[in-house]
Amino acid sequence: MLKLILDEDTGIDDAIALTIAARDKDIELLGVTCTYGNVTVDESVRNTLDMLSVLKRDDVKVYRGRDRALSSSSPYSPHEAGRRIHGPKGTGDIVLPKSRQKEEVMDGVEYLKTMMESRSDFTLVTTGPLTNLASVLLEEPQLSSWKGKVVSMIGAFERRGNVNEYAEANSFKDPEAARIVFESDLDITMIGLDVTEKTRLYKRNADEWRESGSEEGRILSSLLSYYIDNTLGGDETYVHDPSAVIYALHSSYFTTIPTPITVVTEGRERGRTIKGRKENARSSVAIEVERDKVEAFLSNIKNYF
Ligand code: RIB
Ligand code: CA
Repeated sequence: MLKLILDEDTGIDDAIALTIAARDKDIELLGVTCTYGNVTVDESVRNTLDMLSVLKRDDVKVYRGRDRALSSSSPYSPHEAGRRIHGPKGTGDIVLPKSRQKEEVMDGVEYLKTMMESRSDFTLVTTGPLTNLASVLLEEPQLSSWKGKVVSMIGAFERRGNVNEYAEANSFKDPEAARIVFESDLDITMIGLDVTEKTRLYKRNADEWRESGSEEGRILSSLLSYYIDNTLGGDETYVHDPSAVIYALHSSYFTTIPTPITVVTEGRERGRTIKGRKENARSSVAIEVERDKVEAFLSNIKNYF
């Protein structure tokens, strides 16, 4: 059983990643920390609690993390593109039924610190900017050599970015944080656009989820349809955040190369993820993916409902 903590900026593809983590029989979801990005941190907490309730996983605890990039003096407010892709509140054109659960009192960075200090038997999967994890390392530098694994949907290595020619959205939103994390000694795998743009979720997945007749299938179906319409259009879309959870579970579907990674923090390439110089780095980057296997896994989501 894979033990997982998710760190999310819960918009639509984060919600699909959350569904896999909360419902797959081979995953034990220990907790979710929230950050800003696709939405504000308040919306990320709200969407996470509501999605977990839809998925009948109210038992999973949700923690509020940082609300802004390390270098920012004010809380992050999503740009027009984020609002268009994920909808006005991060849940497409629907309003999720409200969960009665509340976020935990403990702060998200504190929770991550406590968990990393006390155990290393879980994988931390991040699907938003790396501010929470960088904050952990700034406060407790010795956690740089934490023995657990980190898997992050972030960056573009041999591929152009999706915010501009150079940068992917999660690294663009906090390049300083991403640099701290990648230049640490963590065992981290970068699941970037090099692989997430090579696989697809399809309208037929949304149709199958709706046909399950369950509330959660209907809600997930609406979210995916909205996301398809506002990203690639037509019948399909990229598989960003779910790829990180799938990698944590089935790393053999991906080809990775061990390589030091760093992040450009200045100039027009700000947010670009590039090869670093660190010796003995424990980081890897995914460069290829077995598309059929990932898409077959995604097709199985219908069996969760
Ligand atoms: O570039 C894709 C990433 O940006 C995904 O994590 C998506 O949810 C957004 O955060
Ligand atoms: Ca995300």
